Amino acid sequence: MKRGWYSRRVFPRLVNWSMVQPGFIPLRQSLLSQASGAVMEIGFGTGANLTFYPSHIHSLTAIDPNPGMIPLARSHLVEGVVSVDLALASAEWLPFPSASFDTVVSTMTLCSVPQLSKALQELFRVVKPGGRLLFLEHGQSPDRSVCRWQDGLTAVWKYLGDGCHLNRPMAQVIQEQGWNVATLDKFYLPGVPKPFGYFYQGMAVKN
Ligand SMILES: C[S@@+](CC[C@H](N)C(=O)[O-])C[C@H]1O[C@@H](n2cnc3c(N)ncnc32)[C@H](O)[C@@H]1O
Repeated sequence: MKRGWYSRRVFPRLVNWSMVQPGFIPLRQSLLSQASGAVMEIGFGTGANLTFYPSHIHSLTAIDPNPGMIPLARSHLVEGVVSVDLALASAEWLPFPSASFDTVVSTMTLCSVPQLSKALQELFRVVKPGGRLLFLEHGQSPDRSVCRWQDGLTAVWKYLGDGCHLNRPMAQVIQEQGWNVATLDKFYLPGVPKPFGYFYQGMAVKN
């Protein structure tokens, strides 16, 4: 995919600033405390999850398709308690053999993946039987008035947010690709305008 100047130069800096906002900290902490074994994170961005992985995980592999994220991510790698194998790749074409990982992770990434169903199928492929997907994603609100705003705003927002959609029904799409959604919390994040702040946090299992 050919990326423009905004995507390569500006957007990574916006991600580096916006993804470490304090409101995300308890959410990242509670989600990533469940990670175990060999872990693979998609949409690593600039590494905002890094410090929240427990020290007992065996390994952390991370991918992101935006080359502009990689130098910023590398500058944060010293902050984590685990070493990271970081690669330039898209979630729709994961460069890993089937059944390679115990845990796969996506935080605020499935909103931006161009081919969402394919990415979820790839995550399903690379995780071991019984393995888990940990997710923290914003998406479609159950409130019709908010939903209408999300549909309208997405047309513009996807350019500012480098492909980000506000209106994806995350839990439903995850389930549709064969995952068993075992735990799910849905909530508006306080302090965030509702069209941008309806979150899905949970764990899905490859049964
Ligand atoms: C809003 S940022 C979130 C970064 C990080 N996951 C976090 O929680 O701070 C969205 C990330 O998804 C990445 N992304 C976009 N399309 C992707 C794809 N097809 N596969 C994997 N990651 C993708 C972007 O490059 C960006 O790093």
